Amino acid sequence: MKEIIRREMVMMVSGDIAQAVKILRDGGLVAFPTETVYGLGADARNEKAIGKIFAAKGRPLTHPLIVHLGEIAQLTDWACEIPPHAYQLAEACWPGSLTMILKKKQDVSSLVTGGQETIGLRIPNHPVALTLLKDFASGIVAPSANKFTHLSPTTAEAVQEELGANVDLILQGGSCAVGLESTIVDMTQTLPRILRLGMLSQQKIANILGMEVKVAESKVQAPRAPGMHHVHYAPLTPTYLMATEDLEKFISKLSFAESSVAVITHSDIVLANNHFIHHHLSSNIDQYAHNLYHTLRQLDHLHLKKIIIEKVPLSKEWDAIRDRLQKASAGRDL
Ligand code: TXA
Ligand code: MG
Repeated sequence: MKEIIRREMVMMVSGDIAQAVKILRDGGLVAFPTETVYGLGADARNEKAIGKIFAAKGRPLTHPLIVHLGEIAQLTDWACEIPPHAYQLAEACWPGSLTMILKKKQDVSSLVTGGQETIGLRIPNHPVALTLLKDFASGIVAPSANKFTHLSPTTAEAVQEELGANVDLILQGGSCAVGLESTIVDMTQTLPRILRLGMLSQQKIANILGMEVKVAESKVQAPRAPGMHHVHYAPLTPTYLMATEDLEKFISKLSFAESSVAVITHSDIVLANNHFIHHHLSSNIDQYAHNLYHTLRQLDHLHLKKIIIEKVPLSKEWDAIRDRLQKASAGRDL
């Protein structure tokens, strides 16, 4: 490893992107901010560097990685047989929280794609990420910068906590505006199919394309599809979902002795008891998404017995958040 690659954790500001590019070219790992979550980046053409990502995260080799690009013109370096509606979606949504699954070009390493014939591609919408990608001028593979099955980090400090000395450099970019991982859309079939919900909604994609967009049911997803591992995106503290009416009853009965509990709400219910920690996240969906992982991570630091999350509305706009809450609670209801 060249001397430029430092083992101790260094917080970088965006002016240090030249150093980040050098680290990537030398086969090192650079964590960087995107608008969704922080990514753990490596040169997508360097198999040795990609291997370091799997080692740092403790991630099985069969889980494919998203290749991040700086501009749409680079799509043809990585994908082939790109349908016109993929370009239409890219033009409308990139840079942004969309990942498209396309047929991979033959020379793309199977280490990137988990042995599959398809590849995930995305142009993130964050000035630090975009400058890094443009200066690097090639693809950067970047999974979320957390240990396998942990919560995705939405701040540089959270990356440091997750991966510590396994990263050569962390680019500082503040807290991620969106706060949930990108929407993944499979564009290899006649109709687009959402493999992972995100804040770019099914309805928005359907409106852009003027065609029906399906959401893949997790039961019929291929084993390597996103989020199949039942403890994906989970806090370390046992986490449960509870309906609003049950939450009011549960809290009113909570005694001081049982108080090692945190409650996350979005509605304006009044919880008449102060023997617990209460985080009111916004009833505004974007604001809720922005705060969710950060709040769960802060609560994990407190080593509580339980985190209880008020169930969110069943309406479509909450789909991506509901999906992550299901995963955070491993489907546990109280
Ligand atoms: O918002 C995001 O997408 C973030 C930021 C850093 O860009 N990245 C991210 O990467 O969430 P990761 O690796 O944590 O999740 C990517 C998901 C994985 O679950 C993987 O299975 C899926 O994308 N994926 C990647 N390539 C795929 C492919 N060819 N077919 C199906 N799923 C794929
Ligand atoms: Mg991830």
